[in-house]
Amino acid sequence: MITNTELEKKGNVFPSKITAFTKDVNSYTFTTENGVVLQITILRGELFRFRYSTTGRFANDFSYAINNHYHTSHNQLDMEEDNDYYIITTSKLICKVSKKNLKIKMYDSIDGTLVNQDELGFHWEESYEHGGDIVKMSKVSHDGESYFGLGDKSNNLNLKGKRFENWVTDSYAYGKETDPIYKAIPFYTGLYNKKAYGIFFDNTFRTFFDFAQERRYVTSFWAQGGEMNYYFIYGPKMVDVVKNYTELTGKPKLPPLWALGFHQCKWSYYPESKVKEITSTFRKLQIPCDAIYLDIDYMDGFRCFTWNKDYFPDPKRMVKELADEGFKTVAIIDPGIKIDADYQIFEEGLANDYFCKRADGPYAKGKVWPGECYFPDFTKPEVRKWWAGLFKELIGEIGVRGVWNDMNEPAIMEVPNKTFPHDVRHDYDDNPCSHRKAHNIYGMQMARATYHGVKKFAHPKRPFVITRAAYSGTQRYTSTWTGDNIANWEHLWIANVQVQRLATSGFSFAGSDIGGFAEQPQGELFTRWIQLGAFHPFFRVHSSGDHGEQEPWTFGEDITNIVRKFIELRYQLLPYLYTAFWEYTERGIPLIKSLVMYDQEDVNTHYRIDEFIFGNSILVCPVLEPNAKGRRMFIPRGNWYNYWTDKIEIGGKEIWVEADIDTMPIFIKEGTIIPKYPVQQYVGEKKIEEIVLDVYYKEGVEDSQFFEDLQDGYDYTTGNYCLRTFKLTGRKNQLVIQQHIEGSFKSDSKTFKIQIHGLPFKIETIQLDNKIEAIESVEQNGHLTITVNENFTELDFSAATNKS
Ligand code: GLC
Repeated sequence: MITNTELEKKGNVFPSKITAFTKDVNSYTFTTENGVVLQITILRGELFRFRYSTTGRFANDFSYAINNHYHTSHNQLDMEEDNDYYIITTSKLICKVSKKNLKIKMYDSIDGTLVNQDELGFHWEESYEHGGDIVKMSKVSHDGESYFGLGDKSNNLNLKGKRFENWVTDSYAYGKETDPIYKAIPFYTGLYNKKAYGIFFDNTFRTFFDFAQERRYVTSFWAQGGEMNYYFIYGPKMVDVVKNYTELTGKPKLPPLWALGFHQCKWSYYPESKVKEITSTFRKLQIPCDAIYLDIDYMDGFRCFTWNKDYFPDPKRMVKELADEGFKTVAIIDPGIKIDADYQIFEEGLANDYFCKRADGPYAKGKVWPGECYFPDFTKPEVRKWWAGLFKELIGEIGVRGVWNDMNEPAIMEVPNKTFPHDVRHDYDDNPCSHRKAHNIYGMQMARATYHGVKKFAHPKRPFVITRAAYSGTQRYTSTWTGDNIANWEHLWIANVQVQRLATSGFSFAGSDIGGFAEQPQGELFTRWIQLGAFHPFFRVHSSGDHGEQEPWTFGEDITNIVRKFIELRYQLLPYLYTAFWEYTERGIPLIKSLVMYDQEDVNTHYRIDEFIFGNSILVCPVLEPNAKGRRMFIPRGNWYNYWTDKIEIGGKEIWVEADIDTMPIFIKEGTIIPKYPVQQYVGEKKIEEIVLDVYYKEGVEDSQFFEDLQDGYDYTTGNYCLRTFKLTGRKNQLVIQQHIEGSFKSDSKTFKIQIHGLPFKIETIQLDNKIEAIESVEQNGHLTITVNENFTELDFSAATNKS
């Protein structure tokens, strides 16, 4: 293990004094006496790129992570100098570069406060083992500074005091202390003095991050090769850091709405009669479900793109019959291609030289489910194109609607390092390299090729892909899950942390194997996990299958009823979730927010873990212990309605919340308007003629949005969508809702059923677009309910009589 201590400084080399600098359009290049070059590129006023070379030259500038369409914007750049520093100033940041040693200090340009500064700064060590440099960076860490992000790490939300490694790894039955696991997302957000900044170290080699573990006042990161190449993103709001990072590495497109429904999976459902038994039980028990999965046993001897015809004699017919019942079929595809001269895909790969090779010539061979396999080099454009084309039959002809990419670290069985040897060669889009550099992006490039294939053959419908391995930017192509977890209470905690963390790392479309992959849960754990999963963007039950059944009806009728209730709640909330997803795709705003991201000004949130905000205004907190009748939880500042009782809680403190097994703590931020669909057994089951708007009264003003489109396809990209912005204004004796509509989409529904919660006065007058409405139309039965045309512009409820 490489360490980074001061004591070990002896092996390190440091930049010396600056002897020259040049300016380009949006970048400055500094050269030191000992030949180090630092290039600072200003992409936006709040986003700087730092790139260091120890040889005086930079390698070809290529990254799989960066979104090519990233929109840069910078103001007129100013550079000044004093005796000690070169000083670059933008509208957001001041960057000081030390003339003596190239060390950096970053300040908020508005109030002048220090945001982040180098400790040892950039330094490096020659790698005797591999040649090249081990590139290192260390930054000062302050008391009270916190760190978030870094992908799927299974430990505390706040990363401080820990060291982590990024090397995507198949990690069956991992735990809280296991590191690295499946993903490599070398991006974190630091929070110091209530100001947030992000660092994205875009280096695909094995990287390490030490958050004040080794030395209390130092945070450092380093890589076993490649360049010191990082992006500094200033907030000061944490949500803006993540938003900017997500734009830099790419936002996803909208998934089909059904992908946000409930998914049922197992290793494996086969033969066809078993699949049908599962899907028909969902319908019989009236438990909503949109997707059914086929794990590896649907294939012929685990050969990708084939079918076991004994189990599935006519896949096209089966997929169609499932579709007729509202089930979308999702099938697994792994990267390993079985070595088998009678297998066409293997032969094609061989004939075209598509498989990865060892440095000295032979193909890289590895054992996976099918036995000995070769592996496509997904880092070669031609191979990705070939791979995408292979989905023609599965998607285009058979009608499978989604593809699940697994084992794409790549995972290799029966070898100590669980993956390829380091010397395996990759094209890396014409930047040839070894597996040391390509390992962390191999799975990402597989998912990318899969995405393009599914997209092409699913057209005019939208693609749906799920991946296990990921690097920064993978969110552009696919959803993800957290891998092979275990059916125990600690893993429920881990699932909550991981999905929040992934959202904080730009990857919101994530979920866990609900109920646990390994071992079997008790009904209580399964229920609590379903409750959490109902608020995760990706909502799927999956289990290894060797420990018994794990369907919603496995644990007796009482549990089935509770599970149904929460899946139904998810389906009611689909328009709210879809709107949040749209916001994520448009603006990069994470779909779920840890409390620290929701309210970084309140230091109480900095160490909260369990609670999070689903979308913008639903606060949830899973129950993570057995036999609980409720739990203590932190309510962030503001007023929140208890979802079940409408009781208002004043936030900024911890409270006890009742939550017996059939419920969980859910709160709605006051002032919010939540659109709801009726319960459906699957997306599109019903023609939705009326949408509920749950209106949570607030004294003050609040905006909410509601996005609708055809729920699939691409028409929304050419204006066929409807974005409603509601402005709620509450006074002591009046509630006004104004609506602004954008886009041309017309849904089936013509009316809103408006349910008002928490109104503090008795309604005497209702005005709809300036016309007095009959007061009788308001049912005063607990909630105040009124049905109105959905295109209203202004609705006014008032305590005063006849104010026209
Ligand atoms: C891996 C996956 C798991 C899948 C299994 C069989 O363990 O993580 O989800 O069920 O392989 O394909």
